[in-house]
Amino acid sequence: HTIYLKDYAPSPYRIVSVDLDFRIGEEATRVRAQLTVEPRPETAPGTPLVLDGEELSLSSIAIDGAPLMLSAYAAGPQGLTIVEPPLRRFVLETEVSLQPEGNTKLMGLYRSNGVWCTQCEPEGFRRITYYLDRPDALATFKVTMTAPLALAPVLLANGNLVAKGDAGDGRHFAVWEDPFPKPAYLFALVAGDLGSITDSFTTASGRKVDLAIYCEHGKEDQCDWAMDSLKRSMAWDERRFGREYDLDMFNIVAVSDFNFGAMENKGLNIFNDRLVFAKPETATDANYAGIERVIAHEYFHNWTGNRITCRDWFQLCLKEGLTVYRDQEFSSDERSRAVQRIHDVQNLRSAQFPEDGGPLAHAPRPDQYREINNFYTTTVYEKGAEIVRMLATLLGEADFRKGMDLYFERHDGEATTIEAFLTVFADATGVDLEQFKTWYLQAGTPQVTVKDAYDAASQTYTLTISQKTEPTPGQPTKSPLVIPIKFGLIGPNGSPMGWNAVTGGSVRDDMIVLDQESVTLTFSGVANKPVPSLFRGFSAPVQVHSDLTQEDNLFLARHDSDPFNRWEALQDVSTALMVDAARGKAWGNAAIEALRSALAETLANDSLDDAFKAQALTIPDESLIARAIGSDVDPERVHAVRSELIRAVFAPIASTLEAAYHGLTSTVPYAPDTAQSGRRSLRNRLLSLLVQSSDGGAALAAKQYGEATNMTDRLAALAVIGAQWTPEAPALLADFRTRFAGDPLVFDKWLTVSASAHDDGVIERMRAILADPSFPRNNPNRLRSLVGTFVMGNPVQFTRADGAGFRFVTEFVTDVDTRNPQVAARVLTGFRIWPLLEPKRREAARSALTALQAAGSLSRNSADILTRMLAS
Ligand code: ARG
Ligand code: ZN
Repeated sequence: HTIYLKDYAPSPYRIVSVDLDFRIGEEATRVRAQLTVEPRPETAPGTPLVLDGEELSLSSIAIDGAPLMLSAYAAGPQGLTIVEPPLRRFVLETEVSLQPEGNTKLMGLYRSNGVWCTQCEPEGFRRITYYLDRPDALATFKVTMTAPLALAPVLLANGNLVAKGDAGDGRHFAVWEDPFPKPAYLFALVAGDLGSITDSFTTASGRKVDLAIYCEHGKEDQCDWAMDSLKRSMAWDERRFGREYDLDMFNIVAVSDFNFGAMENKGLNIFNDRLVFAKPETATDANYAGIERVIAHEYFHNWTGNRITCRDWFQLCLKEGLTVYRDQEFSSDERSRAVQRIHDVQNLRSAQFPEDGGPLAHAPRPDQYREINNFYTTTVYEKGAEIVRMLATLLGEADFRKGMDLYFERHDGEATTIEAFLTVFADATGVDLEQFKTWYLQAGTPQVTVKDAYDAASQTYTLTISQKTEPTPGQPTKSPLVIPIKFGLIGPNGSPMGWNAVTGGSVRDDMIVLDQESVTLTFSGVANKPVPSLFRGFSAPVQVHSDLTQEDNLFLARHDSDPFNRWEALQDVSTALMVDAARGKAWGNAAIEALRSALAETLANDSLDDAFKAQALTIPDESLIARAIGSDVDPERVHAVRSELIRAVFAPIASTLEAAYHGLTSTVPYAPDTAQSGRRSLRNRLLSLLVQSSDGGAALAAKQYGEATNMTDRLAALAVIGAQWTPEAPALLADFRTRFAGDPLVFDKWLTVSASAHDDGVIERMRAILADPSFPRNNPNRLRSLVGTFVMGNPVQFTRADGAGFRFVTEFVTDVDTRNPQVAARVLTGFRIWPLLEPKRREAARSALTALQAAGSLSRNSADILTRMLAS
């Protein structure tokens, strides 16, 4: 059934404090909970207390020490109802038992690699004990754990450790107290035999915080980068947002079986181990950057998420969008701002735009859901971050900071809403944000169209800018958004051009604010026809359609002072060529030559850094081209066109690329820093282009693979050979697998490369991998590396016209759904591109989806995705 935002009402009872006692053991874990409960003043006598609970077996229940009669309560598959609780403060005591061992959903308390751990967000706590499992129920927690010393010498929970000792019988205990009231989704516990590294951080006000990262024994030496990232995050949040840490300890635990990236449990962050472990031989530069980002993200949640949490799950974006914005800013400050922005926008375009333009489109703050787990999406996270970024852009840095300060001051300790968040900015600055709020409520990527004209006689320049958002499921009509457009006009000599006055719309310094369907801005006193540079820094998450010519774009690529738009201009040039070609319009030699010389010039430009050049030399990926085509897409054709463009542009300058490639060779010991990783990214980009455009490329890649001294270089070589499935591929993949046998995170890389191959044999090879009895069929990382990569990153084979790719995926979903519905549902979202495909492929997709639906008995997670997918 469906949950609606409009039905929100606080619970009639409040849980003030929680005392939990876990008796952890091999067979079962027993949980005794003492909840101090109090009716709200307005609660009528006889109002039942309804607690959530799932897969629990209740063994005792009492109120204020007196066992309850059978008629006084009802325990069912959804929870526990106390029929007529006292109309005063009371203590409800329950005891349940759990089977963490058989918990393959990985929600609630489960066992990973022998370690007991928890994942509660969003609704996992109800699988641990009967509770008000909703984010607006804030309580203080005290947790006592006992466990066999031999199996679990380490006992961790939220907050501060207040006692520990021997419990007899080979068991020991620990008591943890978290003084900060929190919702149940932030609860966590870990018990296991773990190694650790420790460090400390002293906050600006002088609090010494003990830091520890726990992991599987033997992996301690792979945790240093995560620790370093944590300390930098703590310092950054003090500097940038004035936020200090608030407990005496901060613990991170790396576990092998985890449904997502990581979780911000108060004082006890639990991480998917792929986002903790790094050493140069097995982790790539991208892995290092990802670890840094996610360590920061979870740490930043301590304020944006934990101290201030969400009133209900419709507000998820309140903590996630804001925290992604904060982690993006952290990465920008720690690394290169321009390159970070390009990365973030590439990710938005290849993941969020397709979601927003397909059957699963939803508002960043949705107003209904059937399964909240299906709303941990790139729209909530990444578009949510873009909305916060636009707010900062519209208000300016100083006023944005004022609003954030007020947010922390006003809402600390609360569970709140998007409205409250926007109100602090309105109150702090006096700016009316009513219309701006529409960004949170409306789904779909706005399409912005720009036309310009120059009149030499009157020296006026006009820009007509209009916006339109197409209907999305459940939202047939759309209203205009407030769109900040950072811009500049560039004169014929490449330098910025000024103007005397602007009429017709709102222009503040270097920003146009478009808040109507259409405006025409007239700039007077413009001496020459300018080229406009619009949406600098990608100042709004929109798709722009302008009438800039290829020449204009090549001009911008050379002269724009905004690095993002210089990059963007090159992307636009190659996208336009590929879209034309896909539609059957051959490109002319002149166009290819112009693009080639712009790219060669970029490569040779000493004033640009390597990481930026690597991005500039990237040809837009297939999903982007598909979306630019818009309908009746044939992914095979898209793939062919992209390959042809790469060959046409780069083959004639292969020797230049190769010389640059060799010039970037370095023998200094590996470090994950910005300069080194930028250099590697450019060198590996050149390698990839050489493999795709020159005869000697594959041999060069095979050589690099063999000689590499770090995973970044080794995997880059393997990935390009694997994707092209050149004759070298099988042997290199086999070598890779044995060379790193026993390292599951490297096995994931092998799976990723295996799933990316464009040849027709890929599906059979994937079937064989999954059928191998030694394949860890319950580990989310392994499953996603193989099948997640295939659906999201191998459109040619996934969307095969014979339907083999679609069927492979629906069979996989049917199987995995019985054990881990979240992994299954996530994989199924890969079908979201199906309405865009040409008729034959579209039919094949539809028939695979309808067959899946006809088979029935899917989890709520997968059924929800499937229903929405087929509704379009
Ligand atoms: N709050 C966690 C994070 O952003 C992610 C939790 C994911 N939960 C889920 N059901 N998908 O860092
Ligand atoms: Zn988060």
